[in-house]
Amino acid sequence: MKNLLIAMVFMALVACGNSLTNKEKQEYATKGNEISQATFKVLSEKLTEQMKLGGPTQAIPFCNVEALPLTQQLSEKFNVTIKRTSDKLRNQQNKPSERELEMINNFHKLISEKQEIKPVVEVDNNNKQHYYAPIILKANCLACHGKVDEFVSVKTDSIINSLYPNDKAIGYNEGDLRGIWSITFE
Ligand code: HEC
Repeated sequence: MKNLLIAMVFMALVACGNSLTNKEKQEYATKGNEISQATFKVLSEKLTEQMKLGGPTQAIPFCNVEALPLTQQLSEKFNVTIKRTSDKLRNQQNKPSERELEMINNFHKLISEKQEIKPVVEVDNNNKQHYYAPIILKANCLACHGKVDEFVSVKTDSIINSLYPNDKAIGYNEGDLRGIWSITFE
């Protein structure tokens, strides 16, 4: 009985040590929002530039080569690990962890129940503060993630397939959940 009590107190202490106060959650949510928005801005500015220069034919190979190094540079700048991931992947290097997949499924569920979706902050398995936020598809994403022959031209589709033979990130509608931002604080 005594041992059980000690074990329970110990577990409660460990649990408390791992949880964040509301104030901390709020702070990490604000930081996470800033970092994800800054990353989105860099990626989308570069992408728009390439789209203007040569349409999807030019922009897709650019993303293929540059998206991850750009994200890596921003991770270093903010001293965090920035990841974009999805349940329907284009780039296998963006593969979700088990927890990330749970987050994505949970956001899907909330959307289907017409509930508000907002970023989640928690302490992860590695005892790090972790931020997750939904990535919603916008109209200007459709040229590369929309329905083939409607938004994605047949030519674009064949470029995507040549670079990403296992591509699943196609056929989306505007407003769909495309994936999540997953940011680990150091
Ligand atoms: C010019 C084509 C193009 C456009 C436009 C585009 N993407 Fe992508 N997207 C790609 C390519 C190529 C990749 C794979 C390379 C990478 O980013 O790792 C990708 C990857 C992603 C990923 C990472 C997950 C995965 O499946 O690999 C997310 C999330 C994403 N795109 C969201 C968006 C959103 C949101 C928009 C609109 C704001 C958008 N994309 C617009 C081509 C595009």
